[in-house]
Amino acid sequence: MTDTVGGPGRLEGKVAVVTGGGGTNSIGRAICLRYGKEGARVAVLDINFPGASRVAAEIVEAGGTAIPVACDITDLGQCKAAAESVAKTWNGRIEILVNNAAFFGGMGVWRPFDEWTADEWDKMQNVNVRGMWFVTQAIFPYMKAQGYGKIINLSSSSFFEGVPGFIHYTTSKGAIIGYTRSLGKELGQYGIRVNAIAPGFTMSDAQLELTKDYQDWYAHNRERQAFHERNEVPEDLAGPAFFLASPDSDFMTCQTLLVDGGATPH
Ligand SMILES: NC(=O)c1ccc[n+]([C@@H]2O[C@H](COP(=O)([O-])OP(=O)(O)OC[C@H]3O[C@@H](n4cnc5c(N)ncnc54)[C@H](O)[C@@H]3O)[C@@H](O)[C@H]2O)c1
Repeated sequence: MTDTVGGPGRLEGKVAVVTGGGGTNSIGRAICLRYGKEGARVAVLDINFPGASRVAAEIVEAGGTAIPVACDITDLGQCKAAAESVAKTWNGRIEILVNNAAFFGGMGVWRPFDEWTADEWDKMQNVNVRGMWFVTQAIFPYMKAQGYGKIINLSSSSFFEGVPGFIHYTTSKGAIIGYTRSLGKELGQYGIRVNAIAPGFTMSDAQLELTKDYQDWYAHNRERQAFHERNEVPEDLAGPAFFLASPDSDFMTCQTLLVDGGATPH
C-alpha cells in the first residue's frame, strides 16, 4: 500500500474543504488524512456526520487540525451554511476545495442502459454533478476574495474507458471533465485553479460493496493495469490530490490526472 505520509507542513495553515470525506476506507478519507499531515486545516464535509466526525478525530489524534461539517450537497442552502461555518472557524479563508462526494453504490450495477429509471438517472446527476456545482458556488466567494484557490474535482477513469451497465454514473463523471475545463477558464481571472482527478477501479468500501457479487473483477482490473501486483487503493489518490492542492501545480488548470495504474489510455 502507498505511504500516505508526505513531507511535513507543505499545506501549512491552508484551509481545505473535502466533500464526502467521512467514509471508513474511502478516497475522501485518504485525502483528508494526507492534507491533515501536510498541515492543512481540514473541514471534513459529509452527509454522514458521524463518519465526518470520526475522520476529523483521526486527523486531530495524529496532531492535525480538523472539523466535521454536516451537509447534503444537493441542497444549496446547506452548502452555503457549511461554507460560512468553515470560513467563520478559520478567519474567512478557504484555499482548497475537493469535490469528492458522489452517489456511487446503492443502485447496483450492470443494468442495460434502458432499464435504469428516470429517478435513478436524476439522483445520480443530482448528487454527482449538480451537487458539485452547488458546493463550488458556496465556496467561490471566499476564494475570489482572497484571489487564490485550488478546486479538485473527482471524475473517473470509467468516463475514458466506457463501462457497460453503469451508464448514468459514467455519464455523470464525464460531465465533471467538461465542468472542470469550463470552470477553470472562467475562474482563472481570480487566481482559482480547477483540475480533476480520474481514479481507476479503487478498492474503497463503496466499490467493494458495489462489486461484491463480481469479485472476478478484482483480478481483471489488476490485469488491465500496467502494475499487476495489486489493485488501486484510496491512498493512491492522496498524493495526486496533494499535488493539485499545493503551489507546485499553480500553473495547471482545466486538466485531468488519470490515476489508474495505466489501465486506460487517456
Ligand atoms: N472507488 C472507485 O473505484 C472510484 C473510481 C473512480 C472514481 N471514484 C470517485 O471517487 C469519489 C470517492 O469514491 P469512494 O469510492 O471513496 O466512495 P464513497 O461512497 O466512500 O465516497 C462518497 C462519499 O460521499 C458522501 N456523500 C454521498 N452523497 C452525499 C451528499 N448528498 N452530500 C454530502 N456527501 C455525500 C458519502 O457519504 C461518502 O462518504 C467519488 O466521487 C467516486 O465517484 C471512485
